[in-house]
This record gives sequence, C-alpha cells and structure tokens, in this order.
Amino acid sequence: MDIKALLSRMTLEEKVGQLVQSNAGQFIRNDLEITGPDGETVPAEELNRVVGSVLTFEDAAQAKALQDQHMAADRNRIPLLLMLDVIHGLRTTYPIPLAMGCSFDDALTAECAEIARREASACGVHVTFNPMVDTARDARWGRILETYSEEPLLNCRMGAAIVRTTQGQNLADPENVACCVKHYAAYGAPEGGRDYNTVELSERLLREAYLPAYKACLDAGARLIMPSFNALNGIPSVANPWLMNRVLRGEWGFDGVVISDYNAVMELVPHGVAESLRDAVRKAMEAGCDIDMVSNAYYRHLADLVREGTVPEAVLDAAVLRVLQLKNDLGLFENPYHGASEEREREVYLCPAHREVARRAAEESAVLLKNEGILPLSRELKRIALIGPFAEETRLNGFWSRPGAERYTVTLPEGIRALLPEAELILERGCGAELGDLDRSGLDRAAAAAARADAVILTLGEPENDSGEGRSRAELTLPGVQQELAERVIAANPRTAVVLFNGRPLVLTALEKIAPALLEMWYPGTEAGNALARLLWGEANPCGKLSAGLPRAVGQLPMPYNRMNTGRPKPGPDDQAVPFTSCYLDTPNLPLYSFGYGLSYTRFVYESLTLDRDRMSKEDTLRVTVTLRNDGDRAGKEVVQLYLRDLAASVVRPVQQLIDYQKVMLEPGERKEVHFEVTEKQLRFWNFDCEYVSEPGTFELSCGWADHLLETKRFTLD
Ligand code: BGC
Repeated sequence: MDIKALLSRMTLEEKVGQLVQSNAGQFIRNDLEITGPDGETVPAEELNRVVGSVLTFEDAAQAKALQDQHMAADRNRIPLLLMLDVIHGLRTTYPIPLAMGCSFDDALTAECAEIARREASACGVHVTFNPMVDTARDARWGRILETYSEEPLLNCRMGAAIVRTTQGQNLADPENVACCVKHYAAYGAPEGGRDYNTVELSERLLREAYLPAYKACLDAGARLIMPSFNALNGIPSVANPWLMNRVLRGEWGFDGVVISDYNAVMELVPHGVAESLRDAVRKAMEAGCDIDMVSNAYYRHLADLVREGTVPEAVLDAAVLRVLQLKNDLGLFENPYHGASEEREREVYLCPAHREVARRAAEESAVLLKNEGILPLSRELKRIALIGPFAEETRLNGFWSRPGAERYTVTLPEGIRALLPEAELILERGCGAELGDLDRSGLDRAAAAAARADAVILTLGEPENDSGEGRSRAELTLPGVQQELAERVIAANPRTAVVLFNGRPLVLTALEKIAPALLEMWYPGTEAGNALARLLWGEANPCGKLSAGLPRAVGQLPMPYNRMNTGRPKPGPDDQAVPFTSCYLDTPNLPLYSFGYGLSYTRFVYESLTLDRDRMSKEDTLRVTVTLRNDGDRAGKEVVQLYLRDLAASVVRPVQQLIDYQKVMLEPGERKEVHFEVTEKQLRFWNFDCEYVSEPGTFELSCGWADHLLETKRFTLD
C-alpha cells in the first residue's frame, strides 16, 4: 500500500481517527474487565467510521467482527489495529514475569513468548502490550509481578528475547504479533510504592537502572512504546518532551508508534499540567504521543487544534504515517484478519505442547527458600494433608491472565493424583487469604488434619487480586490469620512444607522462623498443580533464584541489591546495630533472602573463579572461568552469576552489580567450567556529567549471589 498517497486522500477527521483507540466493548458486546475509567463518551457509529485501533477483545470471532464492521463503515477501508495485553500467555498461562525472572533463563522465556505468540495471533491480536520491563525495587508496588526483576540486566535480556520471538522476522506473517514495550519510564519507582504515584529520580539513576531495558527492547525491534502514567521529575511521561523527544526519538532514534497508557492523555488534567482536555491534547502531541488510548481527547480536540494552527498539520501527518506504516508492515491492507482463525484457536489453545512449556516454566521459576530435610517428599509417605487457602485454588494465574483462566488451571490435588494415584489426600482450608479475613474457626480442624498426616503441604500467600495494577500494599506480611495457621499446623506436624503463591516479594520473617521448608511458587499459571507435585516429590529439582530480594521488613523498602555504599557502612554482623553507622536499630540491613538466592535438592560447590589476566586495556577481553561441582546425588541446574564492583570512581558505584549469568546443568558428581567474557563496555557507567564512560582503576569480580559473594578476584583497567 502506498501510505503517503493514502494519507493525501484522507480528511482531517479521518487522519485524527487513526490516532484514536477505543475499547472494543464500544463496538461489540464483551464482559472483559477494563483497567480505568474511559474518557469522554462518543457515539459508537460515529467513532467506528474513523477509529484507528481497538483494545481488549476475546477471540478470533470478535476480532473478525470488529474488523468487518469497521471496514464496512470506513470509506478509505483502512483496517483496524487490534491490541491486547498478552503478558504471560493467552489461554495457556505461564508464570508471571517476576517468576520468569527467577528462571534466569532467556531461552525458556523465549519459548514461553513463542506459545503466547501462537495463541495471540490465532485470537487475532496484531499488537500486544508486552513486554513490561519496569525496573522495580519496591514490593509495595503491586505491579512488581509484571516485571522480570529488580535488576535491569534480566529485564534487558528477557525483554529482548520476548520481542524477537513475538515479532519474528516478518510482521506480515499472520502468526507474528507486534510488541509494545512499556511503561516508559520508571513507572516502577513510585513514591511510597503506591501505584500511579509520582517518581523522582536523578538523571544518572534513571539512565543506569531504568532506561536500559526499554532501550534493549527497542533495539530488539519493538515497534511500539507506551509512556507511563506517572510524573517523572515533575512531568507526566505522555507529555514529557525530555523523555519522548530528546531521549526516545532523539538519542535512540525511535521511529515507531508511541501509544499513551489507558486514559493518560485526559489524566494530564488531574495531574495539574494541563488546564483543559484541549490543552492536554496539545501537550501530548508536542511530546510525540501518536495514539490516544481511550480518552477520546484527540477525537474531541485534535482536528480543531490543527485547524487553528496550534498543532502543525505536518506533526499530525507524521504520527498518522507511523500508524499506517505499522498497519502496512503487519500486512493488514492485504489481510485485515491477520492471524485470526477459529480453526487455529482450536488447534493451539492449551495444546499439549504449550502446556508442556508452561509446566517446565513453572518448575524452573519456583524458588526453594528453605529446606531442612523435608523436601523432596518420599513416595513412602501415604497420607498427605493439603492445608491452607490455596490447597484447591484455581486462581493461580496472576493479575494479567485472561478472564476465565482459572477454568484451565491444574489444581494441586489434581497434580498430586496424576503423579501419585495411590496417595491419600486430606484437604483442609484452615483459613482465608483475604486481607482483613480474621476468621479462625477452621484452625483447629487444620491442626487436627496435620496431626493425622504423614506429611503436610501448607499453601499460603496472597489472593490473585492483591497484586497487579492499582494493588499496592503498605504491609507485606501474609494477609489474614495465615501466620497463625502456619504456627498451628507446624506445631501439629513438623514434617510440613510451606508452598507460597504470591505476586510480590512478601515479608516472611515470622514464617521463616518456624517453617521447616519454604517453596516460593509465585503464580505459576495453567500447569500449577502438575509443576508443584513434580517439584514436591523430586521429579523436578528446584533451580529458580530470586529475581527480587525478599525484605525482612517493609521499612527496608526500596531495597535494591545493587545499593551504593555509604561513607559509614555498618561493620560486623548484620544483626547488630552499630551507632552512627548506616543501619536500623531494630532490623538488619540485608534482606531476609537476597537477590539471586535459591536452593536446590542437590548441592553445588564453587571451586574457583579465575581471570586470564589481572590488567586489561579498553580493547581487551577479560576471560573469566568459574568452576563448580555438583556435590549431591541428583542432577540439577545452577545459575552461575557474575558480579562486578568498581572500587573507586568519580561517582559512587554499587557494592555489587550483576553483569552476566548462565544457567548450567550438572549431573551428580559432575564438574563444569563456566566461561564469561568481560569487556570495557560492561565497566561503563553514567558519570557526573551523564556521559556513559568507563574509568581506569581497580575492579572486583565475584560469583555466588547478592550479599553472599563466594570468590572475588581483582583486575585493573588501564
Ligand atoms: C495498563 C497497561 C495496559 C493498558 C491496556 C493500563 O491500565 O497500565 O499496562 O497495557 O491498561 O490494557
């Protein structure tokens, strides 16, 4: 399609329409949840003639109906773009992103993106609002579940893997889907951990910890980007010329589509940076926001602003051309349905191959936090008590799973029965998991059930709806009376393994004191029960490592593992306060479980870390070898993590910084050498003048995990 010729035939209103996005629910009946108030209401027939894109629909039949209806009304026959949040699977749900981060496995993340792509394209999705790569260091923020890690490196690598897999080589291939990376920028650092709240960050920290992941996704080819809701250093992102014009379009040369977040153009008014809706439109257009998601502010005011010359027509045309270009690249002018196909939906949704990937992902993202000889359970134990609010729960899919996802969840009893048909299961809920649910009436029965059993699996956590958008918490302990339930059950039967389902790092300080074993499952998705049963009975060996540390107390937050040193670091043991040093009087400084931590059923011994040189020039490559041995009697996977410390620089540098990782499999007794290469590029940082440079000096390299660096070697950069 000659999109420039097409543009020249369009009226002003038609051009504006390309920049308007509506909820599909305006044009078809659906019961899908929307994530905010819609903007101004516009009659559907009026909008349908010109609207450029819609979001949130259910299936291929709806996708086709939406397209047919629109094409019949649009005199230019410009197909709609259909967008949907496919965040961790469509029908086959795999673990939440924070859990995928714990897999430290880019290839597995790509496999998951592959099943999501196949299902999403069959459903008729052209654009997915994925990946979300907001660095998050504060578990109060309910959206921490949507990110891969507190560490930008994981967000960069996993985000890029998702983009490459989802978009494929050629967007016109009906099985490929375009990616919209989000939420640009620093949405994960709201004050007080409260969603949508304002963000204040120095430019240096912003560039170092927050911007790299968006950039990595754009470098991998992401075709769209979504500015975040929050104000960043005083200006909401959708109207932030520094973020959008200077960095995104200028420094990074991004020429794809920018789409606002839900109603965010209109929200410039309550933010207090626009006097009116009309003013909001001007500001968003000036900052280069192409598509207005659902606020209808562009629909109402953009044409007038162009007519009066406030917004130059050339600016409008450039935005429209970007949208048309995307439609053209997706091949929509030739095939407006793209991949939508009821037949392919039947073929791919929840197919055995997709479930197998989801199960493996759930296994590899589980983190074994503690194990005093309880796990794996022996098949000799016949009577198993399955206690707690999640014992039979189906809502183990997380905030962004599609509506109805719980219908397909394999529950824990189903998973156990599939693995151990002869096991006798005693099921007891014990208590609820809702915030404020203080009903203790089930505790006695739960304790009695525990006492009768050979072993107990105690399921605790947060209900699925307590994390996600708009779900911030100020307390991060287990909701309700779950801690009491744990105390009663463990006292009744010390052979208890606690299994956790939650969307954020919780404060488990009290639980950790009494639980003999703790397995963090996050929200594992469709294959929850099968994966968990296999992990509990040792068919699968846990290998996940925390992608975000677990605090001891809310007061530690935000709590980055890659913290800066102070001039008065606390000396000696972490559990003792030292006057006039940087510490708390009542709580250690370090997390309960640090970033990168996770146990296995086998034992890995790190034998050595060697460098092939102790000096390097800027052109050299330093070769690092880590030797480790599997000292146990089971095969297992270990994530070998490489940390850097710059001992002295012109600005303060982190005490530890993950610069690379590799996941390796070792048979019992096997020894392996793992090789890393370090170049000058990995030693760079943003200096005082915000230049990205390395500085000569001494550095340390270590392996292990955060706060537990096992081997350290020094080298000098000349
Ligand atoms: C969320 C986005 C999402 C959008 C569309 C917003 O409320 O912040 O992450 O992509 O809704 O559903």
